[in-house]
Amino acid sequence: MPTIETVTDPLIATDADLVVVAAYAPASGERDDPAELGADGQLVGEAAGLDLGAELASMRFDGSVGSVTRVPTRGAIPAATVLIVGLGARESAGPTQLRRAGAAVAGAAERVTAVATSLHTAIEGLTAGAAAQALAEGLLLGSYRYATYRSDAPPFELESITIHASDADVAEVRSGVEVGAITAGSACLARDLVNTPPQDKRPPALADRIVHEFAELPVTARVLDEQELAAGGYGGILGVGQGSSEPPRLVELSYAPEGAERHVVLVGKGITFDTGGISLKPSTSMETMKTDMAGGATVVAALHGAARLGLQVRITVLVALAENMPSGTATRVSDVLTMKGGTTVEVINTDAEGRLVLGDALVHASELEPDAIVDVATLTGAAVVALGDRISAVMASDDDLAASILEAGTTAGEPSWRLPLASDEYGDRIEGTIADLKNVGGREAGSIFAALFLHAFVGEGIAWAHMDIAGTAWTKEARDEFGKGATGVPVRTLLAWLQGTA
Ligand code: BES
Ligand code: MN
Ligand code: ZN
Repeated sequence: MPTIETVTDPLIATDADLVVVAAYAPASGERDDPAELGADGQLVGEAAGLDLGAELASMRFDGSVGSVTRVPTRGAIPAATVLIVGLGARESAGPTQLRRAGAAVAGAAERVTAVATSLHTAIEGLTAGAAAQALAEGLLLGSYRYATYRSDAPPFELESITIHASDADVAEVRSGVEVGAITAGSACLARDLVNTPPQDKRPPALADRIVHEFAELPVTARVLDEQELAAGGYGGILGVGQGSSEPPRLVELSYAPEGAERHVVLVGKGITFDTGGISLKPSTSMETMKTDMAGGATVVAALHGAARLGLQVRITVLVALAENMPSGTATRVSDVLTMKGGTTVEVINTDAEGRLVLGDALVHASELEPDAIVDVATLTGAAVVALGDRISAVMASDDDLAASILEAGTTAGEPSWRLPLASDEYGDRIEGTIADLKNVGGREAGSIFAALFLHAFVGEGIAWAHMDIAGTAWTKEARDEFGKGATGVPVRTLLAWLQGTA
């Protein structure tokens, strides 16, 4: 991960290899017009004796978001190359466009060691701090590579990014960069955990690794092993984990800064590999199931960022870790599990395991009597059908909580959409035949059914929201600030939300 430094020297004086400036797409309806160079580009062009605007026109550069082109300076200024990056149309450019442009810059800079830019000034109506944060996020998210298991990793040489700010803005830019760097660092922590192959993150090992990540932060950790889970009555977590040769775990992390008024509990699904269990998945559906702990990775990474930022809010994180395997010891179809708190559940489909581990964790969370509970889970294929891989689903018992999470997602550039909890319409569907509840209620409205099941384990009157990230935790194709693989979504949303509640 490159480092970012903020300085007040003029951009044209930089000795970086690449100096990065902005261009805007022509206003809509004027598609044949050339892209328009930003103010920094004018200055850099003048200093280098280059007419960059004319270069853009001759290349027919369209200025679309994240498009890039290079112009050599031939020794006229210390930087060898001007990199021009598109921000889209001037009127619609905002933090999302800046983040994407930042990621494109990182991609274009993978074979140089140093870049310099003032791209944060390119967007009107955005504070210097918010712009610097979005830019830093884009640059760092776009620099992410997962090379742990490669014997011959493709080179990524970018080491240093210098942001040139004015004397008036420098303090705000510096703090925006810091928040952006912590936010991107947290998202990349989640990406690392999710990208890790499943044999190297089986529940006990992943619990240790999570605890280790907090060694230098003011966070205390407790890991419940299988004996403690049995003693506490965590029948859902144990039932899902019992088919595996490695036992399940519940990780509890606490961050309680002095003076914090609000207490929120973040709960994550941590299925380290989801084969479906006895209700075995077909092979193609299983291919990405190492991502089934992405909810857990998200809440861990969000807490990591919150602690680094020193947010004034008490946060407890619970991650329910189990490996869902078929075997002679696995839970059978139609077995009845007794969940923490005593509710009994008929397991109609062992592939609906996320709600079983989360049910126990939500009971545990409710016992802490927090102001709010948010759980995050790769819970249902139905969420992917409904909203695809770019929009997370949110279901909630509380309208204000739902609205604040959606708003945080918009700020963070990670869109979410609310689906109804629909207790009146579908509440009867979770009723069991021989037990209190059943874990499957038919194919239709699968995400809502799963959320209703979870709601049954949330303490009366506690504001609760559930994020289904089955579609958004992973991307098959590189796009925007995401490379192929784990996205780190919705870490940025949770961090923005926590900053809002602090
Ligand atoms: N982990 C899956 C959900 C999932 C699907 C995550 C696609 C990421 C991408 C979950 O445990 C699951 O298998 N859900 C079942 C539930 C069904 C059996 C009621 C599903 O959605 O098919
Ligand atoms: Mn499953
Ligand atoms: Zn699952």
